[in-house]
Amino acid sequence: MRTADAPFSLRVPHADDVEVLARVHVQAWRETYADQLPEEFFGESALEFRRGVWRRVLSHAAPASRTVLAERGGQVVGFAHAGLPASPEQPPPADRELFMIYLLEAHHGCGAAQAMLDAVLGVEPAFLWVAAINPRAQAFYLRNGFEFDGIEKADDRVPTFMERRMVRTPDDSQRHNHHGRMIRRAAGAATGAFPSDARAELRNDWPE
Ligand SMILES: CC(C)(COP(=O)(O)OP(=O)(O)OC[C@H]1O[C@@H](n2cnc3c(N)ncnc32)[C@H](O)[C@@H]1OP(=O)(O)O)[C@@H](O)C(=O)NCCC(=O)NCCS
Repeated sequence: MRTADAPFSLRVPHADDVEVLARVHVQAWRETYADQLPEEFFGESALEFRRGVWRRVLSHAAPASRTVLAERGGQVVGFAHAGLPASPEQPPPADRELFMIYLLEAHHGCGAAQAMLDAVLGVEPAFLWVAAINPRAQAFYLRNGFEFDGIEKADDRVPTFMERRMVRTPDDSQRHNHHGRMIRRAAGAATGAFPSDARAELRNDWPE
């Protein structure tokens, strides 16, 4: 079977997945932002930083948080994580934040990203931050009912790296859900129970 036709599956990650998730995270960052960020974001220190992020995520059962990873051909190829707002907005524009969703480039378009988003957020109102220069991710979010709300921020360390906020309001959720045109169900199915308890501790120096 060609990789392009391989099925994917989702599961809840466990403590043993820290290393593979950190590696997929850094690889996805390189694939996505290599032309926008310096090399230090993709090297050994970045990998160590991501190990720390994933240790925290997988060791705390944060309240209302959901984390899922995608596998294809026996390999971890992506992940998504959502929970109670951790960004310093006061007040946050929605009760849930999508902290991260990453799928390795070779697997874009296979449906796993949609399945992961459905697994961690469903059609609930939520918000997220997306790089200003990331047209594919923005199209994916627009398709899922998120809209730009005009709020932007620059990265502390790389001021030219801008992020834009996107929000899905209750109205958007109901409209997209009702018409069934924006929420595309993917072929894969999430398996396992999602953790639900203790707050996501994702504040750090780097964007997710
Ligand atoms: C964002 C991401 C999870 C989406 O997963 P995916 O499998 O690529 O998503 P899909 O293929 O289902 O949808 C991509 C959409 O972008 C569109 N698209 C692709 N390239 C595009 C481009 N250069 N400009 C605009 N739209 C583009 C596709 O046509 C599709 O939209 P459509 O279904 O309305 O036609 C995945 O691309 C990814 O992990 N990217 C790298 C990491 C990243 O950017 N994460 C988000 C950080 S905020």
